Amino acid sequence: MLEAQPADAAIQSFTVTFLIRRFDPDVDTEPRWQDFDVEMYATDRVLDALHKIKWEQDGSLTFRRSCAHGICGSDAMRINGRNRLACKTLIKDLDISKPIYVEAIKGLPLEKDLIVDMEPFFASFREVQPFLIPGSKPEPGKERVQSVAERARFDDTTKCILCAACTSSCPVFWTDGQYFGPAAIVNAHRFIFDSRDDAASVRLDILNDKEGVWRCRTTFNCTDACPRGIEVTKAIAEVKQAVMRGKA
Ligand code: SF4
Ligand code: F3S
Ligand code: FES
Repeated sequence: MLEAQPADAAIQSFTVTFLIRRFDPDVDTEPRWQDFDVEMYATDRVLDALHKIKWEQDGSLTFRRSCAHGICGSDAMRINGRNRLACKTLIKDLDISKPIYVEAIKGLPLEKDLIVDMEPFFASFREVQPFLIPGSKPEPGKERVQSVAERARFDDTTKCILCAACTSSCPVFWTDGQYFGPAAIVNAHRFIFDSRDDAASVRLDILNDKEGVWRCRTTFNCTDACPRGIEVTKAIAEVKQAVMRGKA
């Protein structure tokens, strides 16, 4: 039987220091670090801290978020030097004896505070034609049938939420913004290995380009960064194999 908690039992809170890399293009020539002390509970997330700062201390703090539950992919940022979603990073999983560093993801143009211009990222995504291109129409009134094994072939890469945590953690992308990047390859993989699709060769030709899969140096930062647990580097390796030997 559960013991009743005393009515006045308070849940412990902590003062946590956040060091946030700020940049206001109207005022700053370079980004600068600013510290904020925030009262937090262990079960709070970094996104809750950003909200508290914005609502209670500095309304000019700028960041993106939408769902707050790890689905929309809009709040990828560097937290203590690692790409993560702010809405999925719990305070209890961080070392709060030291300041928590929060900054924008790298490799994309910084617009303001924690916001970067995502357009180059989405341009690469669009370039790989991330949509079903079937070669024929199904019989009238029939579905495009797919076996469980055929569906399983690309299941992992269907989980992508386009957060850019992978691409913006890739050292090749940092030095060459023209590289398609892991997220575009993951989304190409999702259709290349779909048995209902007939445009694999088109996408494989695109990814055989000098800024395509061969730029990947198997660094694995992308796999470590993915908040959806996608085996990004493995997907890239499978696309490399398909470029060389055709889709298996
Ligand atoms: Fe984000 Fe993972 Fe998709 Fe990369 S592969 S964009 S890290 S969800
Ligand atoms: Fe970059 Fe991932 Fe390849 S981090 S080098 S895309 S394995
Ligand atoms: Fe949507 Fe974090 S706010 S994924």
